[in-house]
Amino acid sequence: MKFFIDTANLDEIKTAINFGFLDGVTTNPSLMAKEGISDQETRIKEICRLTDGPVSAEVLAVDTLGMLAEGRRLASLAPNIAVKLPLTMEGLEATKTLSGDGVKVNLTLVFSPLQALLAAKAGAAYVSPFVGRLDDIGQDGFRLVEEIIGVYNNYAFDTEIIVASVRHPQHVLRAALSGADISTIPFKVIKQLAYHPLTDKGLKEFLADHEKAAKK
Ligand code: E4P
Repeated sequence: MKFFIDTANLDEIKTAINFGFLDGVTTNPSLMAKEGISDQETRIKEICRLTDGPVSAEVLAVDTLGMLAEGRRLASLAPNIAVKLPLTMEGLEATKTLSGDGVKVNLTLVFSPLQALLAAKAGAAYVSPFVGRLDDIGQDGFRLVEEIIGVYNNYAFDTEIIVASVRHPQHVLRAALSGADISTIPFKVIKQLAYHPLTDKGLKEFLADHEKAAKK
């Protein structure tokens, strides 16, 4: 499974790259706003200078022509851009055109397997089911991921599934167990992945035992 980081924060991206297992980055307008950024393009270019992996950059337009214009502009910023479009009828129409022109599209805000089927048929490179937001309303977000995998396994689609809206390490584990292609993970959760209290306890004991032996 590939690991993307879900952030617009450059320090978080640099740190995750140094961890050694980062495959790409996803952003969205809310993550940009959290960083106080209104000029998305400058930040996207900065992110693309840090990584060769796919970087998802989301359009703000909601109409097809606006998405096409904005998507083409974003795609021209760097060779590793994936244009992120909302899974609406307009987003699907824009996906068909952009994908046909060789632009990678990530269809976002996906909450049903039928939306994911449409994304694949439109030629999207990525589809992003939001597991955390479904859990938030009392549903099982991973049922959606499993259903999308089930549908995609029946056909020969190339669309990769990005498990998005990840809230905690269990989501990452379930993404890996389900066989999803990618998990896009907030920095806070990336740090939690390596932590186990027994690892820390065991390390402390190893070092204390060594100290005792060295003093003998
Ligand atoms: C995915 O690409 C989105 O940026 C993201 O995962 C949304 O997650 P949220 O539900 O935590 O906002």
